[in-house]
Amino acid sequence: MSQSNKSTVAVRHGIEADKAHGAVVPPLYLSTTYSFADFDTKRDYDYGRSGNFNRDVLAEALTELEGGKRGIITATGMAAVHLVTQLLNHDDTLVIPHDCYGGSYRLFTSLAKRGLLKLVVLDLTQPQSLAKLEEIQPKLVWIETPSNPILRLTDIEAVVTAAHAVGALVAADNTFLSPALQNPIAFGVDIVVHSTTKYINGHSDVVGGAVIARTQELGDELAWWANNIGITGAPFDSYLTLRGLRTLKVRLRQHQENAQLIAQYLEQSPYVSQVYYPGLESHPQHELAKKQQLGFGGMVSFDIKGNLQTSAKFLTSLKQFSLAESLGGVESLICHPATMTHAGMEPQARLEAGVGDTLIRISVGIEDVQDLIADLESGFACIDENQATDDAKSFKLTPAHTVALW
Ligand SMILES: Cc1ncc(COP(=O)(O)O)c(C=O)c1O
Repeated sequence: MSQSNKSTVAVRHGIEADKAHGAVVPPLYLSTTYSFADFDTKRDYDYGRSGNFNRDVLAEALTELEGGKRGIITATGMAAVHLVTQLLNHDDTLVIPHDCYGGSYRLFTSLAKRGLLKLVVLDLTQPQSLAKLEEIQPKLVWIETPSNPILRLTDIEAVVTAAHAVGALVAADNTFLSPALQNPIAFGVDIVVHSTTKYINGHSDVVGGAVIARTQELGDELAWWANNIGITGAPFDSYLTLRGLRTLKVRLRQHQENAQLIAQYLEQSPYVSQVYYPGLESHPQHELAKKQQLGFGGMVSFDIKGNLQTSAKFLTSLKQFSLAESLGGVESLICHPATMTHAGMEPQARLEAGVGDTLIRISVGIEDVQDLIADLESGFACIDENQATDDAKSFKLTPAHTVALW
């Protein structure tokens, strides 16, 4: 699908699908069970766990947006991650990146500890890691790009080439960019996973997930497991998530325009030692981002100069950013990964993933960016009023800061 008709698909899929009354918006089907048309003659649906209209409309729209063949809607993003592990037997090896989402890391390591799969943790941003796949002979390679929270990029095409050469499948967690800004299947990825809780729903009021398979066969196998283990999503959640999906592209346009400006602001702040945003030319993988992404996204992380106390003081002084986990909603959220999203990781693994006491992650919302920057500025001033420099105070938005979008 061309980038230019993504909004059309997101807005129109399922419109006028109601055969009974011609409702423009797909109606909500809450019924858990469906009457048979005749003896031994099922209609489209028989039981709510196995199939539901609202889930199907959402799954079809996401499948089309990702360029796959079959999608499955799950109750949460973690249910989507877990669903993919059903493809593995106890003697199959899963390769994961060392800096994947903390919840995924916890799930994979817990399954491995119980002997349900074998696990190898690698830094998949490094080409030498890919050379190890031949020796490891994995069944599945997991990638998450950009990674959470450091926004490191993995070269999707390079991983797919190396993994497919040894007969492994590749699954990509595409939560951070959504189908509006990255389509891993176009680079040969076999399975795309989303926490739809984030950008796809976009309003911080539904927890959900999706798995999209590149082939019908793989999609059918995953759909069979989703019904079998009972992790399919609720109809009302699917209804709301489809409503969120309608505005995905316009929301992301604003998210990333704001994120780019905030990243530029942070980069020149004397209170910041390092900014992580793929849209900055200083990002080591800026060129890779331009190659495999359709935009740079709405997530920005940075290290504040100081220590844990500095982070705490800064974070609790802000007014326009809610101190909260999660991401991808219209409102700006800020979090301290070491004590929040990544607290479940073992300390050593967390440090190796670059998640220290001074790391701060922002899910940039779609508010007026001047208000967000002014709030960050007063937050920095709170750390040490005497050091609020003229530089930080003089940052002004200019037309040169406008980013090219789509
Ligand atoms: C990248 C990523 N994948 C998966 C998940 C899990 O999703 P959920 O919280 O919807 O279960 C999250 C949650 O933050 C995430 O950030």
